[in-house]
Amino acid sequence: MTATVALRPIEPSQETAPGGPGQEFDWLLDHVRSNRFLPHPPAESIFVGDGDYRAIGAEFLGHFVRIGRLKPTERIFDIGCGIGRMAVPLTQYLDPERGSYDGVDPVMDGILWCAQTITPVYPRFHFQRLDIAHPLYNPQGSLPGTEVQFGFPNQNFDFITMISVATHLPPEELTVYLNEAARLLAPGGRLFLTAFAIAGQPTGQERLKFKRWRDGPGWYAIEEAPLAAAGIEEEFLLARAQETGLLVESLRPGHWRGINAAHYQDVLIATKPERSS
Ligand SMILES: C[S@@+](CC[C@H](N)C(=O)[O-])C[C@H]1O[C@@H](n2cnc3c(N)ncnc32)[C@H](O)[C@@H]1O
Repeated sequence: MTATVALRPIEPSQETAPGGPGQEFDWLLDHVRSNRFLPHPPAESIFVGDGDYRAIGAEFLGHFVRIGRLKPTERIFDIGCGIGRMAVPLTQYLDPERGSYDGVDPVMDGILWCAQTITPVYPRFHFQRLDIAHPLYNPQGSLPGTEVQFGFPNQNFDFITMISVATHLPPEELTVYLNEAARLLAPGGRLFLTAFAIAGQPTGQERLKFKRWRDGPGWYAIEEAPLAAAGIEEEFLLARAQETGLLVESLRPGHWRGINAAHYQDVLIATKPERSS
């Protein structure tokens, strides 16, 4: 199996693949950023991190389409969907008849907000709360992350996203999720996963100061809460992704490394081969 891994900074101007979206898509992103009629959770209930909810959602819609080649007719699975930061912009892009979106998350409040706000208007957007244990997000959860099996048939999705989720998982759970992504993607489908991928020793330039967690492939930036910002050895991430049978297309460095980039976290794109060899 061959893997092409781009590990150089990619300028914003290089993000659009030939034949990718044009001016109309820029207009759509502006609309998502500025349209005050799009739903927005109350500020105090946003638990998915600092930053502008609308702007980050619009930013990722841009990455999904430009980097991940997301099409309006595709079936999306958003693992760790939080409180709809990715789903709200996707309502403006997905074809209401043929596209679909499924989001899962362990945090009940986020799922309730999405199910009550988005699904009644966009019935092909579904949200499901799973009681997966996580020390920060769901400490009382009954299902260990290492035992997760999502309740969908094989090859059910064309596009799977994990945005700022791998950055909260220990390596053994990340491995389970990569296997699940490979199972759930249809041939030609893409996994779009963000991570803090650590290659070698830190340069000192990085905006997060990661330290190795014990002797394993996991790294942490906050000693008191290692899963608040979890890094993962790049070699481990790429090897586990490839072992699932996915083809690693690129790992694009993010500007958390102190470099110029279009996104903060690193972005891994891995593709399900059209035919297994
Ligand atoms: C930083 S938030 C990102 C949320 C969303 N992806 C976004 O970008 O708006 C991390 C999310 O991962 C979810 N999460 C934590 N542990 C998880 C797990 N084991 N499986 C799936 N989701 C998890 C959290 O509940 C939270 O919604």
